[in-house]
Amino acid sequence: MSDTALDVDFVRAAFPAFSQPDLKGWSFFENAGGSYACGPVIEALSNYYTNNKVQPYHPFPAAQQAGAQMDRAKSRMASMLNVQGSEVHFGPSTSQNTYNLAQALADDFKDGDEMIVTNQDHEANIGSWQRLTQRGMKIKEWQVDPATGELHIADLIPLLSNKTKAVAFTHCSNIIASVNDVKQITDLVHGVGALVIVDGVSFCGHGLPDVDALGADVYLFSLYKVYGPHLGVMVMRDALNKSLPQQGHFFNKDQAGHRFTPAGPDHAQVAAVNGVIDYIEAVHAHHFTDAQSISSHKKAEQVLQLFQQHEHQTMQPLLDYIDGHSQLHLLGKNKAVQRAPTISFTSAKYAPEALAGQLAEDKIMLAGGHFYAYRLIKAMGIDTETGVCRASMVHYNNDQDVQNLIAALDKRH
Ligand SMILES: Cc1ncc(COP(=O)(O)O)c(C=O)c1O
Repeated sequence: MSDTALDVDFVRAAFPAFSQPDLKGWSFFENAGGSYACGPVIEALSNYYTNNKVQPYHPFPAAQQAGAQMDRAKSRMASMLNVQGSEVHFGPSTSQNTYNLAQALADDFKDGDEMIVTNQDHEANIGSWQRLTQRGMKIKEWQVDPATGELHIADLIPLLSNKTKAVAFTHCSNIIASVNDVKQITDLVHGVGALVIVDGVSFCGHGLPDVDALGADVYLFSLYKVYGPHLGVMVMRDALNKSLPQQGHFFNKDQAGHRFTPAGPDHAQVAAVNGVIDYIEAVHAHHFTDAQSISSHKKAEQVLQLFQQHEHQTMQPLLDYIDGHSQLHLLGKNKAVQRAPTISFTSAKYAPEALAGQLAEDKIMLAGGHFYAYRLIKAMGIDTETGVCRASMVHYNNDQDVQNLIAALDKRH
């Protein structure tokens, strides 16, 4: 545990939403759906739209500046994730990125090849792969324990063989919020010569990981849940990029960044990725003194720890309240240090969406449903029509938010 505690007032001041009159007094618990955007992102978007809204890279100053902002965003994001610039691909969303990747894998797979998916994931990292059965691929399912929603590595082992071409799983569940051991699973999967595709969407809202250290061949996440613009990041390691059939225009086949994201990403949003990096660097500079001497991914790691430590402290009272209440049922672990602050629960008195509506009367923003983790909800024996109530926090949520939510729940149970 670090001695440095997150300065929550400092981070909240970086999010214009907190000072908007219409949002004042509201506690925001729908961060797993999409976080607020930080100030530097909004400024970068506005700057691009005002000064550089031209086709980038052409030989006139506005276009050169536009291209330079985009290139800078890519290389800075790569440094934070500890990968190469050529390995970062910006697409419209994670769902679109997995879809494109699935087309590439489909072109590459041979008869008898198998792929393993889980039933813990968001559908973005299942459906694209399941559809490959239409192209002759066999898909096996690594299933959760229905009582807990957890994935156990012991259940993956018998599914692996020399026919396995890829295993797709989530870094962190967007419902039960357990963090899967990506490194351990990756080592196991690489042991049979298969690829690892990790959905990091639910993890990255809590800080950016060292993707190189995790070892995955593909790591995906969505920037609109990381205080940024609506883009999907797909890290694809260079060796894999070279070996897969490209999905872009034929004349771009030698450009790593064009091979798997055929739709041109929104230029302004790519430029605005700089705002996410600026924000993480500003948080780092505010809390630590070693910025000059450490790498970008080390800074990201320190900020991740700072965020996680704060999130653990903030969420524990909410876990205790829900877990201890006879009319509420908590999904996932009841110890904050074992999970992310995405807290799903059901109520014996209200359907999830109805409860969300009630809580809105007390200025609580959250939602009900299956959150596209349809298969997990079903596996856990919960009605997929109604789903769960989900209160999801990030580092800018504070103790007051949690007290507000507990009070609003307590009034109704
Ligand atoms: C865990 C998880 N994976 C994948 C996705 C899909 O991301 P996108 O909306 O960028 O397609 C989401 C979106 O909610 C998600 O929560």
